[in-house]
Amino acid sequence: MSKSLYIKTFGCQMNERDSEIIEQLLAQEGYVPADRAEGADVVLINTCSIREKAEQKVFSLLGQLRDEKARNPSLLLGVIGCVAQQEGERIRDRMPHVDLIVGTQQIYRLPEMLARLEQRVTSREIAINLEASFHIPPFQKLLVNASPFPASSGFKRFVTIMQGCNNYCSYCVVPGTRGREISRPMADIIEEVEILASQGVKEITLLGQNVNSYGLTNPVADLTVSFPELLRRVASINGLQRLRFTTSHPKDLSEDLMRCFAEIDILCPHFHLPVQSGSNAVLKRMNRKYTIETYLEKVAGLRRFCPEIALATDIIVGFPGETEEDFQATLELLSLVRFHGSFSFKYSDRPHTHSVNFLDKIPEEVKSRRLLAFQTLQDAIGLERNAECIDKEVEVMLEVCAGDDCKGRTPAHQMVHFNRQGLPLAPGDLVTVKINQAGKHSLKGDIHLKH
Ligand code: 5AD
Ligand code: SF4
Repeated sequence: MSKSLYIKTFGCQMNERDSEIIEQLLAQEGYVPADRAEGADVVLINTCSIREKAEQKVFSLLGQLRDEKARNPSLLLGVIGCVAQQEGERIRDRMPHVDLIVGTQQIYRLPEMLARLEQRVTSREIAINLEASFHIPPFQKLLVNASPFPASSGFKRFVTIMQGCNNYCSYCVVPGTRGREISRPMADIIEEVEILASQGVKEITLLGQNVNSYGLTNPVADLTVSFPELLRRVASINGLQRLRFTTSHPKDLSEDLMRCFAEIDILCPHFHLPVQSGSNAVLKRMNRKYTIETYLEKVAGLRRFCPEIALATDIIVGFPGETEEDFQATLELLSLVRFHGSFSFKYSDRPHTHSVNFLDKIPEEVKSRRLLAFQTLQDAIGLERNAECIDKEVEVMLEVCAGDDCKGRTPAHQMVHFNRQGLPLAPGDLVTVKINQAGKHSLKGDIHLKH
């Protein structure tokens, strides 16, 4: 009889991709998907610890699953990913209902660990070591198409090109949760993309915590290319229509990479370039290794090579010691760059980071006020940016339709709603839409019918 698996994923695209890999590995062992935790044979929580709130959600779900485990003692419950990596020992000691604790580098061992638990060879499996010499195992080539687990999307997929981080921003858990930076051999990446493209995937997003430094750290024998070279190689694979990547550290953004936006047809004009703060003093304490002046030079460089490029960023408000002037500098930066979009967060202390020990923590109400001010300004700018599309024709890659109401994304990653007027469209199709309405977070328009 087949066993059923339910995975709940928190956090970033890297985690989403890891969950897909786990599903694929376990499909090979005969697992089929369960649509909810209740009644599943195995429940895995793929966790995120980037901010305090993300971690709290994990612990509250684990609390709820304690009852489920009491009702169904044969359920195998696992915690994997970043919280497992950082808090594995605490979970082991305080949560006896958790059977399996697996850190970020050990997910590839899940089939053997689950088999031992099922056969009652052991009553608990814990694998949370982080190794500096870790290599991302080659892609599992089997079952990409035949997997019983539906892919999150048939036409667009993520491909991991590197893991870990060597930057040590003072607020960030990632070096602790994902280990040192390692790049995946180019041959493995190309092979994976070729397989995906041959199965009809049209859009690929190359993933890593810091893709700009791909190939610069721990190069292995067949890994001698830079990130721009990798982009050119991937872009030449037949069948792909859109190429994206995320995420980048401004300090490693080279002119060669900027040039890619002018030269690679399928590279989408959208760049997520986290700045974190508009104040040099704060950036220094964050250990970001760039100034606002150099950040602005890079923005100007990108726009020189690709004038229509849409920029998005991440901002932390209320970093320890952030003064009102520092925060004003962040607002000024926003008005200067006019990002198309941003993700903004209140600073939270994370375990084992430098900034935990910084003085002058900012009170919660000040952080909330700053976050609101930031988001109000960003929303206004986002609306203006979207309004720039009115009366223009944009290319949209269709994502989903509910009846004739469809939505898809532009190359700049803006969401567009339109009516397909009875046309037989499928996800992944490219259509032209004339924009007639702009909102803060999306656009609306009419499909352009070819006569
Ligand atoms: N507190 C708040 N936000 C954080 N981020 C990372 N660490 C923290 C923290 N301790 C934000 C950064 C990063 C994004 C993924 O999460 O903006 O770019
Ligand atoms: Fe969260 Fe960072 Fe881990 Fe992704 S790498 S799951 S963002 S802590």
